Amino acid sequence: MKGSSRPAASNPEADRLEAQVSAQIAPTPEMQERVARVRLALVERVRAVAQERASPLVRALVAGSAARGTYLSDRLDVDLFLLFPPDLSRERLREEGLALGNSVLTETETRYAEHPYLRGRFDGFNVDAVPGFAITDPSQPLSPVDRTPFHQEYLAARETPELVAQVRLAKQFFRALGVYGSESRTEGCSGYLVELMVLRFGSLQGLLRAARSWRIPVRIEEPARDPPRLPAEVALILADPVDSHRNVASALSRRNLALLILAAGAYLDQPADRWFEVHTAAPFSREEALARTHERGTHVTVVSLPRPDLVDDTLYPQVRKAERAIAEEVARSGFEVIGSSSAVEPERVLVAVEVGHSHRPAVRAQDGPPAGLDRVGQFLDKWVAPDAPVLQGPYVRADGSLGVDTRRKDRDVESVVRAVLPRLSLGRDLTPEEPGQVTVRPLTSETDGPALSEALRELLGRRLPWLGPR
Ligand code: CTP
Ligand code: MG
Repeated sequence: MKGSSRPAASNPEADRLEAQVSAQIAPTPEMQERVARVRLALVERVRAVAQERASPLVRALVAGSAARGTYLSDRLDVDLFLLFPPDLSRERLREEGLALGNSVLTETETRYAEHPYLRGRFDGFNVDAVPGFAITDPSQPLSPVDRTPFHQEYLAARETPELVAQVRLAKQFFRALGVYGSESRTEGCSGYLVELMVLRFGSLQGLLRAARSWRIPVRIEEPARDPPRLPAEVALILADPVDSHRNVASALSRRNLALLILAAGAYLDQPADRWFEVHTAAPFSREEALARTHERGTHVTVVSLPRPDLVDDTLYPQVRKAERAIAEEVARSGFEVIGSSSAVEPERVLVAVEVGHSHRPAVRAQDGPPAGLDRVGQFLDKWVAPDAPVLQGPYVRADGSLGVDTRRKDRDVESVVRAVLPRLSLGRDLTPEEPGQVTVRPLTSETDGPALSEALRELLGRRLPWLGPR
């Protein structure tokens, strides 16, 4: 396999640091006992309630990191799976699952990922109750969560207490780097992916030693005789050991994998506490951004759209699509686009675009037909009309074709964006019902807020996180 050619050099400094961090993040024996008790109590309660209700439930189990001890104590969610017969309709699966969950958990709230589930509390813990089908072949799942019990079986059979500690360490490293979580918002590594990689490379250091020389796209499994064609965007391929057709890393973006590759080398060369510390970035103010655009000689325009009522996993891909569509249209309209970014607030979605100049030239040089063609007459009629917005011409160019310099109506980027927005495909649910719900303003007219701060950092404050402030 590529990347493992570098010798497994010993790194006593990293060893010492990791032993320290490992001790800090390990759940206390009391915590482990509480989790173990809750696992048993949950499954017992579900069984009792299922019997009372004559529910078709086949089996209940706690899977995920709570079942394996691979959780980070400050973000522990207990994943409770409620498995029903494969011939149950999806509608009844949903009803029965939510009914069982509701009678066992308190403070419940229905959520939707790719699949409905219930978030609630039990004995002081956050619990996700997820209905699924009790299948026998994990390569033929009926719902996206049906492989989970097989993951549990696969990992539990292979993980030693040392590996479990390495998984926690790796999750903490990934979290501090900002690449932990497979939601669309993060586009990072799921807990299961981190766990499989640690298993594969033996430890966090083993994983990082391999990762430092990866080249994207990366295949972690042994090369198949007839490797499947790579989808254009894929960053990493790691086949699910319980279902070789599924790529466990499909949610990981190229940007985040590149960040991991670079971080791997930087950490191994200079291990330090801060690689395991989660920092919340200080707010990036409008004033700071304006100082930077002044230095850069650029202009920032901000589009604000009403936020549709969607779950994050549906919303974020649409927001990124809208950002791309707006930036591309601004470039097509004659502005030099330096960069763009987007962010989400409870009430609105922001897209920021940095351009070289706030105004484009008033003049636009338009092409006409070559002399001698029939269309010349039409062209001349149009542009010699007394009310035609002409600044120069019509004239003949060096190559023998006609041209005319016309006057543009909108010169500032804000007016241009306002005019084109209704024609852009912004993502299905982002297209506002009324044009009045959208604002397009220069950064100078915006007010500070969390989403603006996030969008501005992404646009003007980018820097490899381990390098510290500029
Ligand atoms: N799962 C998966 N692929 C995902 C997300 C989840 O296969 N992208 C399955 C895995 O079997 C995982 C289980 O669902 O173990 C629970 O998901 P989650 O809570 O996200 O992961 P954990 O393994 O519990 O890790 P942690 O909660 O500590 O992040
Ligand atoms: Mg979990």
